[in-house]
Amino acid sequence: MVKVITYGTYDLLHYGHKRLLERAKALGDYLIVGVTAESFDKSRGKINVQQSLMERIEGVRATGLADEIIVEEYEGQKIDDIRRYGVDIFTVGSDWVGKFDYLEEYCKVVYLPRTEGVSSSQVRSKKRKISVRIVEDKGIGAKIANEGTYVNGVEFLSPDDQHVEDAIYLFSMPDRHYELIKKAIYNGKHILCESPITMNEVQCRELFDLARKKNVVLMDALKTAYGTAYNRLLLLVKSGAIGKVISVDATCTSLMGNYNVKALKQIWSSITAWGPTALLPVFQILGTDYIDKNIVTQYIDEDKTFDGFTKIDFLYPEAVATIKVAKTAKSEGNLVITGTKGYIYVPAPWWKMDYFEVKYEDQNKNKRFFYQLEGEGIRYELVAFSKEIESGGNNSYVSEEISVAIAKVMEDWAARKVREI
Ligand code: CTP
Repeated sequence: MVKVITYGTYDLLHYGHKRLLERAKALGDYLIVGVTAESFDKSRGKINVQQSLMERIEGVRATGLADEIIVEEYEGQKIDDIRRYGVDIFTVGSDWVGKFDYLEEYCKVVYLPRTEGVSSSQVRSKKRKISVRIVEDKGIGAKIANEGTYVNGVEFLSPDDQHVEDAIYLFSMPDRHYELIKKAIYNGKHILCESPITMNEVQCRELFDLARKKNVVLMDALKTAYGTAYNRLLLLVKSGAIGKVISVDATCTSLMGNYNVKALKQIWSSITAWGPTALLPVFQILGTDYIDKNIVTQYIDEDKTFDGFTKIDFLYPEAVATIKVAKTAKSEGNLVITGTKGYIYVPAPWWKMDYFEVKYEDQNKNKRFFYQLEGEGIRYELVAFSKEIESGGNNSYVSEEISVAIAKVMEDWAARKVREI
């Protein structure tokens, strides 16, 4: 029996895929199709895939051409698969000519001519795009819009474009969010909002309820949450790789240099700019049901509205957490997750994570993980936003519970339930 293997993403299965599978099948007696996992695609820079792994597997299965379907999850898997399944022929389309010659050591390699005029990218780009308007006072609109060019399915309107937008990317000062979001929801717009969504817990819940009622997506723009490495880290922690988590410690600082005290009201302070990011791993790993928290802050203005430094300690029934955020102090911006079996260390700047280490008492067991992070995570965030809108789903990256817990911390800080230094 001649065994043939081929690999692909098979997103929005089209005629070109079908023809390739037919010819692959005809090369032998038994066809194995490797469908790429989301994390593998992301790590090789393919971020626009629209269908989930299950949907894509279903698409391949429905062709009736595959005798066996497997998932491709890691670099170097092809050699393992060829050996494991006793494969005789490896084949892919001619867009890959030369790329897999190294497999000739293990089996025959055949490049089949690619079908002209059709591709998943083309099918995706024909789908209607979601138009997004940036509402900001932060001066980073151009950067966001540029990231949008890498994402199928979204299109940023330029400031003078009069078209009515489907969605808003909100970057205004946090104390303006509530009113702006409420208005946008009433106008039927989806909202991606720079975290914190509000500076108040009750208002945050109210906005999520309203968004549900009006069938729009309200999503926290916390770019760290959407990166591949960060999500892999969460999975590892949940799978018990470091045992029971005892402590989460996150630090985020960025020195703002010379500043004008009078202009501070127009700038995000340490807690508003960095708090949500630093709180993300705490709440995603330990949950939001902490017993107590202790906020220590250092104001740099007489009105006590701007913190140059803030440290928050959380007490959980069986764990603790600490975040440190600063704009007038500098520290090592790393993340450490302490467990009963080992710990995870993410070097600075951890919020742009593309690498982390899992460390144990026995150093031989230590593992390092690398992933590609493009555009600081903004691209992935935009992909997630457009998928949420398309599927009408609720946010799978930053849950409502987490957004609300962040808003509660902001509220307590703003209500000066703090100790000053
Ligand atoms: N393929 C083909 N003819 C096409 C499109 C794809 O023969 N018109 C082949 C590829 O060469 C590959 C397999 O189908 O062997 C799976 O390709 P995949 O990357 O999933 O599809 P694309 O349409 O090329 O996707 P994209 O546009 O995202 O690159």
